[in-house]
Amino acid sequence: MIKVITYGTYDLLHHGHIRLLERAKALGDYLIVGVTADDFDKTRGKINVQQSLEERIAAVQATGIADKVIVEEYEGQKIDDVRKYGVDIFTVGSDWIGYFDYLNEYCKVVYLPRTEGVSSSEIRAERSSLKLGMVGYSPFLEKFYNESKYVNAVDVIGICVPYDGVLHDLKDDLTVYNTDYDKLLDDVDAVYIHSHPKQHFEQCKYALERGKHVLCESPLAMSKLECEKLFELARINGVTVMEANRTAYITAYERMLLLLKSGKIGKVVSVDATCTSLSLSTNTNWGSLESWGPTTMLPVFQILGTEYQDLRIFSMMSDDDKQDLFTKIDLTFSSATASIKVGTGVKSEGELIISGTKGYVFVPAPWWKTDYFELRYENPSDNKRFFYQVNGEGIRYELVALANAIREGNADFYISREITASIAGVMNEFETFKDRKRELL
Ligand code: CTP
Repeated sequence: MIKVITYGTYDLLHHGHIRLLERAKALGDYLIVGVTADDFDKTRGKINVQQSLEERIAAVQATGIADKVIVEEYEGQKIDDVRKYGVDIFTVGSDWIGYFDYLNEYCKVVYLPRTEGVSSSEIRAERSSLKLGMVGYSPFLEKFYNESKYVNAVDVIGICVPYDGVLHDLKDDLTVYNTDYDKLLDDVDAVYIHSHPKQHFEQCKYALERGKHVLCESPLAMSKLECEKLFELARINGVTVMEANRTAYITAYERMLLLLKSGKIGKVVSVDATCTSLSLSTNTNWGSLESWGPTTMLPVFQILGTEYQDLRIFSMMSDDDKQDLFTKIDLTFSSATASIKVGTGVKSEGELIISGTKGYVFVPAPWWKTDYFELRYENPSDNKRFFYQVNGEGIRYELVALANAIREGNADFYISREITASIAGVMNEFETFKDRKRELL
């Protein structure tokens, strides 16, 4: 009996896949099909897959062509599979020519001509291509734009700076709308807002009222009330409003939260998060809490909940009293505490430490875009290290999440509404704190 094996993602199964499977089967008597697991696809940079592993397996099984379906989970697994199942022929489409020649050592390698004119990527793009406009002024937008090119469900078409009229040097195929927010809104389905936090509310509101989806950098607004108004507007207009806080979409960070929930360090007693940077380039009029606060608040609220009982602020202001150069906020919960430290004029170690009754989590700097964390215990031999590859600082995953949120209506899948509102609530407390301090002077 000649055994044949082939691998693929098989997202939104199409006739190119079926033809490949038929020809693979015809090479022998028994066909094994390896379907890639979500995590494995992510590490290969294939992040837009729309169907779950279960759905993709079911689709391959439903063709009736495969004799056995397996899951491909790790780099190098093909060699293991060929040996384990006694495979005679390995085959894939001609888009992979040369790539798997190393398997010739273990079996025969056959590249079959790829069917012209169809691919999962094209089907995904047709199904949900979202025209997105960028709003704001920051060098970060260039990074965002470059990252968007990896996400075929989203097409960034233009940029505008509603009030300031300053434009970053973004060229390429982007349309520059200067200050004409209305015109940009005419041309897009959704906007990504990365302006000064105090402009977020008006810019989000305007877009939502015009029936456009919104992805807005955190904080979504400067108070809980403003957030609630935006949620309500989105509901009335049948569109999505989602907070962009890219750490939330990073695999290592997500897995760390899951481990905490499963009690790996016992009961969490303290969360300490620090983010500082001395040069914020063009965002010179941003205070340190505006720049970094929402990032540090994210793990605090995701781990301890949003019901804090007390909040204390220490802040060091700039000489002209316009912005905070360093701020430390201590939050007290019924049986836990949290401390966030942010700085744009003070430098510190950008780490995240979560202390529990059995051990602690250590996420080294820069924890907000981490691919790595450790569970540490009294006995160092119990320590565990975790690594999950991250591409593009989480921005591409965030864009995929936006496309999914619009399709599925679950904008709060990664960050709940309460957390978005609570982050804005702390921003509000800080504004009140600054006003009070000024009155006392
Ligand atoms: N394949 C093919 N003809 C096509 C598309 C895919 O023969 N038009 C083959 C691939 O060469 C591979 C298998 O089908 O051997 C599974 O491919 P997969 O990567 O899942 O499909 P694509 O449509 O290429 O997906 P994507 O657009 O996401 O890269």
